[in-house]
Amino acid sequence: MSDYDTLIAMAKQARENAHANFSNFKVGAALRSASGKIFGGCNVENATYGLTVCAERIAIFKAISEGERRFDAIAVVTDTDALTPPCGACRQLIWEFCGDVPVVMANLKGAIEVLRMHELFPKPFDSSNL
Ligand code: THU
Repeated sequence: MSDYDTLIAMAKQARENAHANFSNFKVGAALRSASGKIFGGCNVENATYGLTVCAERIAIFKAISEGERRFDAIAVVTDTDALTPPCGACRQLIWEFCGDVPVVMANLKGAIEVLRMHELFPKPFDSSNL
């Protein structure tokens, strides 16, 4: 049993609630705070397409809105053979809110890959640039 099993299970569970009526691409995310609390998220699409919010950002905003500020891992789960990394917009926000956390990418068949944020987002723009 890996340190990430619970996180992946929570992301799978969150994925069940995905509102992906337009892409049919269901994504689940789970974000773990430093205190051990886990926040799930799923993608939420709408008819304009452009107002879609990814699973990762839903999880981040839920956690931030509940007062959490320190995080130690995030998981992303899809039903694809090629594991799904966070999109560019989500990489920006994961970096800003979570820092150099491990990003656990997994699918429903049990494949897992873990990359740290500095590998996925090697030259970020953040508050240190301001
Ligand atoms: N999506 C996510 O929720 N997270 C990702 O990491 C990649 C993409 C969503 C957005 C949209 O609802 C669907 O997947 C297809 O792009």
